Amino acid sequence: MTTISPLIAGNWKMNGLTHSLEELSELARLLTTGEAPRALVVVCPPATLLAAVAAQGASSGILAGGQDCHTDASGAHTGDISAPMLADAGAQFVIVGHSERRADHGESDGDVRTKAEAAIGAGLKPIICVGESEAQRDAGEAESVVVQQLANSIPDAAAQHEVIVAYEPIWAIGTGRTPSLDDIRQMHAVIRDSLVQRFGGAGETIRILYGGSLKPVNAREILAVDHVNGGLVGGASLLAKDFYTIISAV
Ligand code: G3P
Repeated sequence: MTTISPLIAGNWKMNGLTHSLEELSELARLLTTGEAPRALVVVCPPATLLAAVAAQGASSGILAGGQDCHTDASGAHTGDISAPMLADAGAQFVIVGHSERRADHGESDGDVRTKAEAAIGAGLKPIICVGESEAQRDAGEAESVVVQQLANSIPDAAAQHEVIVAYEPIWAIGTGRTPSLDDIRQMHAVIRDSLVQRFGGAGETIRILYGGSLKPVNAREILAVDHVNGGLVGGASLLAKDFYTIISAV
């Protein structure tokens, strides 16, 4: 099995005002005074804090990411933000296709794919999210839904450029519920197969993150599952102590 260096990303979602940077300072302190983390650490704050996170995180190895980008590089799109703008603010990553974007903004797999292409074009690494709803899981469709999302959301450019996949079962997000370790193992194996079938050797090296109620109490066991190459953390990334515990669980 190819060894993939782990990555833990925090998705602050629409949480965080300037004082949240105190949590970032605390995270930086923990990361630099404790044992060096095995994982690459990424924080994806709201766009208003992106430049500050990128600047403040630099000395402690914390990398910054956006939470979404437009498909265009610039233009008449009030309220949107483009991939080159994220890069200009210091981002190295951007989440695309989060289920909250898919639900709140009607983003299709095609939109997600174009956003991922825009991210790659701006030199960013897209974190492409997929995941089934509870109804789809109950109907036994979880794997087919995710495989379809992967096929349609990941651009062909993933063969030559770094992309990251995040498997986030929608019903596990913010609910405190997680799939069983066997279910996570099974889904991540399916995702890996699908990536290898499409991208060959490059598919072996794409990180597959798990997201959905990843917490200090379950991080160690979930992050040890085969083909789980890190995590995408929502609520527990808002507190430095909790996020650091998850980072340290790798
Ligand atoms: O993108 C991370 C996310 O959707 C998971 O959120 O709060 O369940 O960790 P949470």
